[in-house]
Amino acid sequence: MKTRAEKYAELRAKGEQAAFPAGPEAVAKQHERGKRSARERVQALVDDGSFVELDRFVVHRTNAFGLDEKEFLGDGVVTGRATLDGRQIFLFSQDFTVLGGSLGEAFAEKICKAMDLALRTGCPLIGINDSGGARIQEGVVSLGGYAEIFWRNVQASGVIPQISLIAGPCAGGAVYSPAITDFILMTEKISQMFITGPEIIRTVTGEEVSFEELGGAATHATRSGVAHLVATDEQNLVELTRALFSFLPQNNRETAPRFDCDDDPRRVASALDDVVPDSPNKPYDMHEVVEAVVDYGDFLEIAPLYAQNILCGFGRIDGETVGIVGNQPSVLAGVLDTRSSVKAARFVRFCDAFNIPLVTFVDVPGFLPGTDQEYGGIILHGAKLLYAYAEATVPKITVITRKAYGGAYDVMASKHIRADVNLAWPTAEIAVMGAEGAVKTIFRREIAAASDKDAKMQELVDEYTERFANPYIAAQRGYVDDVIEASRTRSALSTALAMLRNKRVPRPERKHGNIPL
Ligand code: HXC
Repeated sequence: MKTRAEKYAELRAKGEQAAFPAGPEAVAKQHERGKRSARERVQALVDDGSFVELDRFVVHRTNAFGLDEKEFLGDGVVTGRATLDGRQIFLFSQDFTVLGGSLGEAFAEKICKAMDLALRTGCPLIGINDSGGARIQEGVVSLGGYAEIFWRNVQASGVIPQISLIAGPCAGGAVYSPAITDFILMTEKISQMFITGPEIIRTVTGEEVSFEELGGAATHATRSGVAHLVATDEQNLVELTRALFSFLPQNNRETAPRFDCDDDPRRVASALDDVVPDSPNKPYDMHEVVEAVVDYGDFLEIAPLYAQNILCGFGRIDGETVGIVGNQPSVLAGVLDTRSSVKAARFVRFCDAFNIPLVTFVDVPGFLPGTDQEYGGIILHGAKLLYAYAEATVPKITVITRKAYGGAYDVMASKHIRADVNLAWPTAEIAVMGAEGAVKTIFRREIAAASDKDAKMQELVDEYTERFANPYIAAQRGYVDDVIEASRTRSALSTALAMLRNKRVPRPERKHGNIPL
C-alpha cells in the first residue's frame, strides 16, 4: 500500500506529466514554428495566476491503430476557467503536440464541459484552436464529439460571447465551431482554416494551392470575410483578444463594462465641420468621423480589410461601449453591395444580442447596380442588413453625414425602421437618388428637346440639388429629429445614449424570425 507521501508524490508526477503530455521536445518543435504551446497560450492570455484547470487527467479510450500504446494526460486539450481583466471566462486551448490537436471523444467531452459551465454561469467562452480536425483513429466518435460542440455553440449563441482564436492549422471539423462563434481572430503565417486541404483539392479539382493561399489569415481577412481580426504574432493575438473582450458584456443579460472616462462627452470636434467636401463626388474617410467622436479616438474595427465600403467596430462614448457602423465614402463611394451588407448585418445582430447600442454614420449612394450583384443575391443580402436593423431593439442612433439615397436610406437605421434618434449634418442629402440620375430619369424628354442639352441638364441638376439635396425635407417630416453642426456630434450622441439607457421594447411572441439567409 502506498504511503500518504507516495500518494502526494504520485499526484505531483502526474501533474508534471499532464503539463507536457507529449514531452518537452514536442513543445520545442511548436516553438520552432513560431507557436506557443497550448498552456503557454492560456497563461499569456488570462490574468496572472487565475487559471483553474479542469480534467487534466482525462485520457482517450481508443485501442484502434495503435492508440492503446499512446496515452496523453489531458487528451490534447487544456480546458478550464480564469479571469480576464478580473472577469470570469471559460476557455479551451488545443494542443497540437498531441496527435496534431485532433479531436476525439474525450477531447470533445472536455470542451463540452467547459462550454456547459460557461453557459450555466453566464461567462464568455474563448477557444484557442490548433487542430488537424476529427481524430481519424477514433472514427465516427470524433464526428459525434464535434457535433456536440457545434450544438453547444448554437445554444450559447446570443447568450454568452464566444471568441475563437485560430492559432495553427484548423482543418475539417475544426473550422465549423469557430464559424458559429461571434468572432474569429487569426495569426499571420501560423494559422490556416479550411474544410479540405491542398492535397484533397488537388485530387478532386486539380487546383494547385498552398496552405497559406487557401486558408491563411490574409485570405480569410480579405477574400472570404471569415476572419474578423488578424494578429501579427502570438503576443499580438493576446493583445487583440483583450482589446476586443474589453468591449463585450459577460452575457446577454448584462451590459458591457463601463470605463471611467476623462474625455469630455461634450467635447467639440471642430475638424468635423470641414470633413465633408463641397463636391458630392469627392470621397473622405469615415474613420476620421468615427475617431473624432469616440472616447480618446479609440476604435476597434472589425473585419477592417473585408468589404471596406462599410466599416464596423467598437468604440466608447462617455465610457460606454457602442457598436459603430459607417458607410465608407472612400471605398466604392460607400455603396452597399453583397459583402458589405452581410458584414454589417452580422455585426448589427451581435450588438443587438449583447445590449450594445448602435451608432450608424450614413453616407451611401445606394445599392451597387450590376449583374454581378444581382446574380450574387444582392436582393437577399441587402435584405439581411435591413432585417438586422429593423429587428434590433438596442438603442439605435443614426447620423447622416452626406448622402442617404434610395433604399439604402431606409436600410441604414432610418427612423422608419425604428431608430430612436436620427440626426443629420447640414451637408446631408436625403433623396431618392443623386441629382444627375434623378434629372436624367424624370426630364429625359425635356433634355432631348433642348437646343443646348448640357445647359438644360445643368439647369435641372442645379434645381434638383437646390430642392432635394439637403436634410430639411426629411426634417420637416420628423424623419430626422434635428440637423446639427458636425462638430457637436459627440455631444449629441452622448446625451442620446444617456436618454436611451433604459430603453425597453416589447417583442411579439414567436419562435424566431426568418432572416433571409
Ligand atoms: C489524427 C492527426 C490528424 C487527425 C494530424 N494528425 N491530423 N492525427 N487525426 N485528423 C497527426 C499527424 O499524424 C502527426 O502525427 C501530427 O498530428 C502532426 O501532423 P503533421 O501532419 O506532421 O503536421 P503538419 O505538417 O503541421 O500538418 C498539419 C495538418 C495535417 C495540416 C493539420 O496534419 C493535416 O492535413 N491533417 C489532416 C487534416 C484533415 O484532413 N482533417 C480532416 C479530418 S475530417 P505524428 O505522430 O506523426 O506526430 C474532419 C471532419 C469533421 O475533421 C466534420 C465535422 C463536421
